[in-house]
Amino acid sequence: MSNPTMPKHVAIIMDGNGRWAKKKGMLRTIGHKYGVESVRTSVRFCRAQKIQSLTMFAFSSENWLRPPTEVRTLMELFHFVLGKEVKKLHKNDVRLRVIGDTSRFDSRLVAKIAEAEELTRNNQSLNLNIAANYGGKWEVVNACQSIIEKCKAGEMSPNELTEEMFFQQTTLADQDEVDLLIRTGGDMRVSNFLLWHIAYAELYFTETLWPDFGENEFMSAIEEFSSRQRRYGRIAEQVDDN
Ligand code: IPE
Ligand code: IPE
Ligand code: MG
Repeated sequence: MSNPTMPKHVAIIMDGNGRWAKKKGMLRTIGHKYGVESVRTSVRFCRAQKIQSLTMFAFSSENWLRPPTEVRTLMELFHFVLGKEVKKLHKNDVRLRVIGDTSRFDSRLVAKIAEAEELTRNNQSLNLNIAANYGGKWEVVNACQSIIEKCKAGEMSPNELTEEMFFQQTTLADQDEVDLLIRTGGDMRVSNFLLWHIAYAELYFTETLWPDFGENEFMSAIEEFSSRQRRYGRIAEQVDDN
């Protein structure tokens, strides 16, 4: 396809690391390590394609329910990758943000996240949002709490609340709404990822397991996105395809 329409904001549910490793007779945690390579590939792809925002689901608020050793490995991996990659991200003009309830992480990890966000805050080539201890329901409740605080402080009144004002209280308020949501690993569900932000996203599901998700498949997802007609409630004839 020549010149596909590019999404401005892509979100990815990176699923299938455990199954990928199991298929190869390895420990699940090895699958997570290989998954990091696919994160790098996707970041590179988005930079090259001039996609403005990439939001990746790394750890859900439900993932604490996994065996403690797996949770520990994931935290350690997060810590390690953050330490190793931040300089490179900064050099590549990538702005990093971690979205989610980080208060449950250990203080060293929280400090490292804050440092990385501060270092990269003025970068412009790509917004890379990593969702960690993130839940779409948490996000909605969190936004509601900020709004309630504003009302209590007399900064706004409840009946003034609009969708746009609500959006402004979410973690991705400064970025475009998600155009394309990709989920690898074959399951067709949202698993409490972005709820508000995917209201009109195009959904792309693939059987490919996350460690096998590379540039070609990312491009296939873009081409599929590009071929869809986004009607936003209108009928086909009303929509200008150009
Ligand atoms: C996704 O892969 C990564 C995380 C949830 C951290 P999984 O670990 O869910 O892999 P599967 O789905 O069990 O194969
Ligand atoms: C979703 O994957 C969370 C992440 C990719 C981080 P899960 O593997 O946790 O989702 P479920 O449990 O199959 O819905
Ligand atoms: Mg999974």
